[in-house]
Amino acid sequence: MVALARSPRPPDAEVSSFETDVLAGLGATPKRIQAKYFYDGAGSQLFERITEQPEYYPTRSEMRILSEQGADFAKLIPEGAALVEFGSGSSKKARIMLKAAPKLAAYVPVDICGEMIEQEAIDLRPDFPGLKVLPVTADITKPFELPEEAKAAPVRVGFFPGSTIGNFEPHEAAAFLRNAAQILGKGALMIVGADLIKPADTLNAAYNDAAGVTARFNLNLLVRINRELRGDFKLDTFEHHAFYNRERHRIEMHLASLKRQRVKVAGESFDFRAGETIHTENSYKYSVESLGALARGVGWLPVGAWTDPDKFFSIQAFKLGETVTRASF
Ligand code: TRP
Repeated sequence: MVALARSPRPPDAEVSSFETDVLAGLGATPKRIQAKYFYDGAGSQLFERITEQPEYYPTRSEMRILSEQGADFAKLIPEGAALVEFGSGSSKKARIMLKAAPKLAAYVPVDICGEMIEQEAIDLRPDFPGLKVLPVTADITKPFELPEEAKAAPVRVGFFPGSTIGNFEPHEAAAFLRNAAQILGKGALMIVGADLIKPADTLNAAYNDAAGVTARFNLNLLVRINRELRGDFKLDTFEHHAFYNRERHRIEMHLASLKRQRVKVAGESFDFRAGETIHTENSYKYSVESLGALARGVGWLPVGAWTDPDKFFSIQAFKLGETVTRASF
């Protein structure tokens, strides 16, 4: 057999999996594309702007809990502990934690984007002279090694803010927590930011900001496909759809085709019915009880929960039980 000639593409594994995943997702019924592909340069910038929109309350609510009640959860953190942040990005929230918990000996930001966390580490060190900042480049959903100094700390405290846990399917959220338990080991704590179930109006507004930034963020995925995968999506024939699915306690984000049409990506054709959508993201909403139950199922025992005065958002703390999950060290 002779392999078909393909146009040259960067040897980057992420790029080729982008193509494979997009082709598989557009070929599936219903059509879907994984949310991780939102975050190219433009996508990351648009996401920052979403967090500044007046309707998008989660970031503000979480920051408020962290700054007003951070000292309270800091009491749970033992002397000399290492804080391990999963998917840290810009460490803005960790800074508040680090200020509130001077007992921390080390901070381990973990992110798939190595460049970003190396830079954050450089920026953080002068502001926290007594703290060891030990960045790790890794996929937070897979097993990874912690630096020796973090393993040697008396306890490791996981930190997972931003309601990113809500972007996993519930079974994936459980798998994430199980993996985190393995990585953090015996006696670990986990501090998770989770958006709360609330009236649909507030939720729908948050993901349909009037300025249209979330819509641009969603549509940017098609811009990226057009650019990187030789796509011919006509942007004005697709629309951002975000709505609260009450049965499943989640915001769904879709890109809806406004008409019947055929689109080409990387040489393959895909047909859309009028109104057919590509499902691009879910954002699950939890109660303190429902996230507690999910965590308990994989060995994490709830030890505290804090909310903002509107009860829009929660920070929940869990401690690793002795029996359910094996610690790796
Ligand atoms: N995890 C947050 C949330 O679900 C942030 C987020 C992730 C987000 N992807 C998004 C916000 C897409 C708006 C649109 O709200």
